[in-house]
Amino acid sequence: MPTDFIGIDFGTSNCAVAALVNNQPTLIVVDENSDNPYKIRSAIYLAHDESGADSHDATANEQTLNEMLAAGEILFGEKGFNAFLLTPHEGRYVNSPKNFLGAKIPKRLLDSFEILVVRFLSYLKQCAEKQLQVTITKAVIARPVNYHSTMGELGNKQAEALMLRAAHKVGFTEVEFIHEPLAAAYHFEQGIEKATDAMVVDLGGGTSDVTFCSLSQENAEKLERTSDIYATKGIRQGGIVCDKLLASALVSPLFGRGGRTEKGRAIPNMLFSGVYDIDNIPLMSDFYSPARHKAITEYIFESEDPLALMRLQRVQKQRLTHQLMHAIELAKINLSDQLQTQLAMPFIENTLSLDIQRKQVAETMANWLDKMFVMIDEATTQAKRMPEVIYLTGGMGLSPLVQKALKDRYPMIKIDVADAFSSIVFGALLKAKRLYSQ
Ligand SMILES: Nc1ncnc2c1ncn2[C@@H]1O[C@H](COP(=O)(O)OP(=O)(O)OP(=O)(O)O)[C@@H](O)[C@H]1O
Ligand SMILES: [Mg+2]
Repeated sequence: MPTDFIGIDFGTSNCAVAALVNNQPTLIVVDENSDNPYKIRSAIYLAHDESGADSHDATANEQTLNEMLAAGEILFGEKGFNAFLLTPHEGRYVNSPKNFLGAKIPKRLLDSFEILVVRFLSYLKQCAEKQLQVTITKAVIARPVNYHSTMGELGNKQAEALMLRAAHKVGFTEVEFIHEPLAAAYHFEQGIEKATDAMVVDLGGGTSDVTFCSLSQENAEKLERTSDIYATKGIRQGGIVCDKLLASALVSPLFGRGGRTEKGRAIPNMLFSGVYDIDNIPLMSDFYSPARHKAITEYIFESEDPLALMRLQRVQKQRLTHQLMHAIELAKINLSDQLQTQLAMPFIENTLSLDIQRKQVAETMANWLDKMFVMIDEATTQAKRMPEVIYLTGGMGLSPLVQKALKDRYPMIKIDVADAFSSIVFGALLKAKRLYSQ
């Protein structure tokens, strides 16, 4: 008999749900259209934008979003993303709502995100209820150590409060949170034989987190684990930042960055600000503003290489930021299996493409990797010890570049890469079991 609680990984890039069935942790099918039906892209598409207003400028017409949410059809995951690619101007696309829950944005816009979260959580709950044939009333939701935000702890509070309200609204009567890396730690703990000091490193799309803790079979069933946790740290940067760094370094020249006017003046960098910022509403809005359109147009007339700036203008006019970043993300993922890949951008120009080598990505990732190492060093300093093992999870942990960087840095420490997309949800479920099982 299934139980009435679930674990939820509400991720920036992907979400997952798990439940106990016959006491076995079981993943819920959340996206039948995905290659892996047990994770769903964190994407929402609102069809039927009856307002007729500009469909992507979240700040300009946030007041209509609530009405659309109430009235229009909502598509989640692959379905939503594909509908957006087919008809980008007929609806509203929201990618990675989690990125905005801790953001300094107007209250009305935050309320809209809350409704989006309500709808998404409700969809996830329904998936579980359909598969399990039982009403789910309790959930443990994994959260990052630090939500993507410019407001520090205030951003964390805002985001968690929003998640809690949303969860109550969809009918979860009992809700608890768990730090994502600690959830992963609980999951890994199931497989260890002797007590181990483990650094659990969760590298996701929006954030990168670590929990350094003592794992043991002896303490695994206990609810209170504070004394086992030596340090917990998180940075507000993950795979999306890597995609943006890659874009700035390698793709921007195709758009005219670094170029000159015919009179020899530098094309200002400000023209490109926001073009890759799918996780920053103010910057994206600035990029799509009439003022930017005017500025790009003026430089097209003055530039030595007007074709390049015309590509930038096409991205701006046709609002191709999401498609562009999706293509760049895919290229990055391909480079985990291949040494070289082709980044094709036919949505900008039929034959526009760029060959990218894995080693080039290594260079663009260096800045984020440095921050990750600072985070790990802070955790070891706080703990006054080194880990015996590093458990690596989250999508970015699949990158051989990340794995190699960790091995080079900690040659004496065993590194285990496992369950990139399920460790956190299984860990959240373990906490739910400890809390809610009679
Ligand atoms: N094979 C791969 N190689 C490199 N990167 C990958 C691979 N697969 C996924 N990624 C990247 O991992 C990130 C998504 O990871 P994950 O699903 O763990 O994030 P998330 O849990 O949704 O985000 P967060 O935990 O930050 O909220 C994306 O940036 C994606 O591009
Ligand atoms: Mg995650």
